[in-house]
Amino acid sequence: MIDLHVHIMPGVDDGSPDMEESVRMAKIAVGSGVFALAATPHCNIPEEADNYDGSQFRENLQRLQQEMERQKIPLTIYSGMEVFGTPQVPQLLDEGKLVPLNDGRYLLIEFAFEEDPDMIWKVLDGILERGYTPLIAHPERYFYVARDPQLTYEWLQMGCCLQMNKGSILGRFGEDVRRVALDLLDHELISCVASDAHSSWRRTPYMREAWDVLEEDFGEDCPALLMEENPKRIVNSRKVYQLRPYGFARR
Ligand SMILES: [Fe+2]
Repeated sequence: MIDLHVHIMPGVDDGSPDMEESVRMAKIAVGSGVFALAATPHCNIPEEADNYDGSQFRENLQRLQQEMERQKIPLTIYSGMEVFGTPQVPQLLDEGKLVPLNDGRYLLIEFAFEEDPDMIWKVLDGILERGYTPLIAHPERYFYVARDPQLTYEWLQMGCCLQMNKGSILGRFGEDVRRVALDLLDHELISCVASDAHSSWRRTPYMREAWDVLEEDFGEDCPALLMEENPKRIVNSRKVYQLRPYGFARR
């Protein structure tokens, strides 16, 4: 499996605090069948975390990659960020401050749980205009998506992709989120499933359970596509394979 959303970079956000914990997380990932992941620290959170691209960012990434080699952990670590969606994001892209997944064409982006859908649309449009594909993190957790899931279909039609959290499928964010998650999967709207792991003991990078649930509910092709094939396409900046998505009736 390839996991495209992991807060494993030590000491930069609310994920792993230090290299020891990052190593524990890496071992859990490998033990669950993950052979590559993207280190995606929070970035651009207003008044909290900048974490923009630069020498410090690259140094942290390299240190993590070297530690995998040193400890002979068979895990490839790609570059990335979970960019917080603000109106400044397109400009930050122009300024080279954001790191797309594996320095390619997909930008992992999250939005506030309560946000103006028009603002979201403008930010996504600005990213697409610059030739990048927004990979929208955990849409199933957003309140406006729960109220109006058709938004996700519209984002897909614009050219965005959607990343679901494995915890949402497993009910870790409550029954309401799980129901939205299953609805989005049913409608073929999801491009990939990732851990959004923050530690080795809570919100972990253990991916096997989610694979098993997807296999049981949707057949074996589903986790193979969402947890391996599409993530591989994304890190290689290729188009994801999307089944035939269909929208929701607007209430
Ligand atoms: Fe995250």
